Amino acid sequence: MASDMPQTTPVRSRRASIRVAGARTAAAAAMAALAVVASGCAVKGADNANLIIGKQQFVAKCGSCHTLARANTKGIVGPNLDEAFRASVDEGLGRASVRGVVEWQVKIPNPQGAMPKDIATGAQLRDISAYVAAVAARPGSDSGLLATAVEAPGSGKPAVEKGGKLEIPASPTGQLAYTSSTAEARPGTVTIAMPNQSGVSHNIAVETGKGGATGSGTVIGASPYITKGSTTATVTLKPGTYTFFCQAPGHRAAGMYGTLTVK
Ligand code: HEC
Repeated sequence: MASDMPQTTPVRSRRASIRVAGARTAAAAAMAALAVVASGCAVKGADNANLIIGKQQFVAKCGSCHTLARANTKGIVGPNLDEAFRASVDEGLGRASVRGVVEWQVKIPNPQGAMPKDIATGAQLRDISAYVAAVAARPGSDSGLLATAVEAPGSGKPAVEKGGKLEIPASPTGQLAYTSSTAEARPGTVTIAMPNQSGVSHNIAVETGKGGATGSGTVIGASPYITKGSTTATVTLKPGTYTFFCQAPGHRAAGMYGTLTVK
C-alpha cells in the first residue's frame, strides 16, 4: 500500500485488505486439502477447467457484484477482485492457490457478507475459479478465444420504436448493460419494454438529455425492477435526446445506459 494513504482509510478498502488476510488462511487450508487429495490420486479436474465457460459464467453469476478488469465487469457490491488478489499475487501466492481461494470463498461465503451461498458449484465453480485465478490482477486484456467469449456490452443494433412500442432488453449475459446502447423513437407516448433474462435485478428509466454514465436530466419515467421476465415504462417523448439507464446502484456507472433519439 502507498505510504501516502490517508489516515481515514475508506471502509471498502479496509474490508478488502482484511478479507485478503482471511483469504490467505483459506488458501493455506485449500492447499492442505489439495495435498491430501493429490497424495491419493491425480487431481484430474484441476487440469480440465474450461476458461471460456469460466469467463462466461463469471460474467453471468459474479460480474454484477464484482469488478474484474479482464472480464470487463464493473459490479460494486463486493470487493474488486483485481484489488483483492493483487497483494497476494505480488507476494508470490501462485495462481493455483488463488484458484483455491476463489473456490473457497464461493463455497463458504462470509455469513455476514452479501454474497449469496451456492451461486456456483461443481464443474461450473471449477471453471469460474480457474478463470478468475488466471486473470485477477493481470494487466492487459484477454486474447484469442477468450477475447470473444462474451459479447461486447451494448453492441447490438439500435432499438427502434414501432407503433408506440420500444423494446430494450437487458443484456442476457449478466453484464451491466442493455443489448443496445442506442435507441430511436418518434415523438408521442411510447411504452418501453425491458425483457430481462439475466437473473440480475434491473429496471429501465428515461431522463432528459444525453447524460451518459452520470447524467443530471429529469427522470420522466421508470419501470419496476425485475430479475427475470419483462417490465415496462411508459413515457411521453418530445423531439430531442434522452438517456435510458438502470437505476440499480452502480449499474449506470458501470455502463448500463444508452442514448434515445426522438425525431
Ligand atoms: C450479490 C452480490 C455477489 C455475487 C453475485 C457474488 N459475490 Fe463475491 N462477494 C460479495 C461480497 C459482498 C463480498 C465481500 C463480503 C464477503 O466476504 O462475503 C464478496 C467476496 C468475494 C470474494 C473474496 C474477496 C476478498 O476480498 O477476499 C471472492 C473471491 C468472491 N466474492 C468471488 C465471487 C465469485 C467467483 C462469484 C460468482 C460465482 C461471486 N463472488 C458472486 C458479493 C457477491
